[in-house]
Amino acid sequence: MNTRYIILLLLLTSSIKGFSITEDWGKTGHRVTGEIADSYLTEKAKRNIAELLKGQGLAFVSIYADEIKSDDRYRVYSPWHYVNFSFDKKYGEDTPSERGDLIQGIQKCIEVLKSDTAPAEDKEFYLKMLVHFVGDLHQPLHVGRGEDKGGNDIQVRWFNDGSNLHRVWDTEMIDYYKMSYTELANNADELSLSEVEAIEKGDVLDWVYESQSLAKKVYTSANVGEKLGYKYMYNNFPTVRSQLQKGGIRLAKILNEIFG
Ligand code: ADE
Ligand code: ZN
Ligand code: ZN
Repeated sequence: MNTRYIILLLLLTSSIKGFSITEDWGKTGHRVTGEIADSYLTEKAKRNIAELLKGQGLAFVSIYADEIKSDDRYRVYSPWHYVNFSFDKKYGEDTPSERGDLIQGIQKCIEVLKSDTAPAEDKEFYLKMLVHFVGDLHQPLHVGRGEDKGGNDIQVRWFNDGSNLHRVWDTEMIDYYKMSYTELANNADELSLSEVEAIEKGDVLDWVYESQSLAKKVYTSANVGEKLGYKYMYNNFPTVRSQLQKGGIRLAKILNEIFG
């Protein structure tokens, strides 16, 4: 098989739902988190970040980590998009994946960004990756069960189409809502200062556990083969919106600590 044929095959299969290359929150979700984070940055952080990203915004760079998935040179970063560990254990009780995971990935990004010696080029790369991974961390099923690949193996129907539980949370609900990322970001819940502070509280690991406890509920929210639609949206889209907003606020917290 020559490369062109493989690419054609990938393109064809990726248009069939259920066989697609996963995109995590999907473009819109990641951009919402980036856009919300932007509005919580200090002026100093904004300036430093704009310099590193050469003027590109957080929403714009938020899907870079998905874009590079099709480039073999970046394959080592694929396991950084999620973390799976037993629901009744703490992270680290079982040996974390040697290939890396979402937690190790975020730690590495922060480490490079805080370094006095890392070249600007590396900082730019790891900043783009960080924006994406903090988004992924807030998709509950990215802290799901390894056995079913975070719900990827749980086939369901989304209205009249074949899908899977992971995909419903990554993209189906957000796409169904039919709002742009700016509209979703601009219409995020209005929060009081104390509500924002409560969201900012804790660290990456605390937020991982929060996502994991949501994941437990997500697993009980649907049965294999079930047809999900209006009612599922009604029950679960508020959680999606809230997770995207928390992701944005917490990303800004991390960035303000590094660049602010
Ligand atoms: N592959 C394996 N586990 C996964 C998860 N939790 N999310 C996305 N992809 C995965
Ligand atoms: Zn995903
Ligand atoms: Zn991802």
